[in-house]
Amino acid sequence: MGRICIVTADITRLKVDAIVNAANSTLLGGGGVDGAIHRAAGAELLAYCRTLGGCPTGESRITPGFNLPAQWVIHTVGPVWQGGDQDEPGLLRDCYVNSFKLATEQGCRTIAFPAISTGVYGYPKRKAAIEALSVMGDWHDRFDEITACCFSQSDADLYHALCPKCLVGD
Ligand code: APR
Repeated sequence: MGRICIVTADITRLKVDAIVNAANSTLLGGGGVDGAIHRAAGAELLAYCRTLGGCPTGESRITPGFNLPAQWVIHTVGPVWQGGDQDEPGLLRDCYVNSFKLATEQGCRTIAFPAISTGVYGYPKRKAAIEALSVMGDWHDRFDEITACCFSQSDADLYHALCPKCLVGD
């Protein structure tokens, strides 16, 4: 039965089968975790992404990790928070579900997610964590380890408060 692990880390440094990128619909890079992943992966990632023709909100696309320690990058486009009545929860859940689907199709056994949509896209962190952990709970038996990769201790504390049984990784 797979573990759900909460860490505070730079996702570009995690040696897992797949890391998930909080991208935008162009898939051509940006700031935040998207920018960090493209910088760490190198120029080949952007060149590969140019061939994908973008990605709608809620969907995911997989690419090699190139210079990253992770073998694969799963790019997903989270919803922009608009108050919660534009199906943001459903679209956010779709990001996690569609990323898990691509990861299982690729044979991945370990996967790490950033807190999708909670930065530039303004999704309230706690609401997003509830959706993320709910979908992770649905999929954890199909992976050896699912990592919620937080970028601050306060984010990690929030995740852990919502999931006391989750492992706390370093
Ligand atoms: N490792 C892990 N998490 C990170 C990292 C990193 N290196 N850098 C940022 N984060 C965290 C942020 O702190 C936030 O909790 O990722 C989460 C998502 O924030 P954003 O990267 O801003 O992503 P999002 O809110 O989904 O907005 C996506 O921002 O960068 C652009 O091109 C991207 O247009 C897209 C939009």
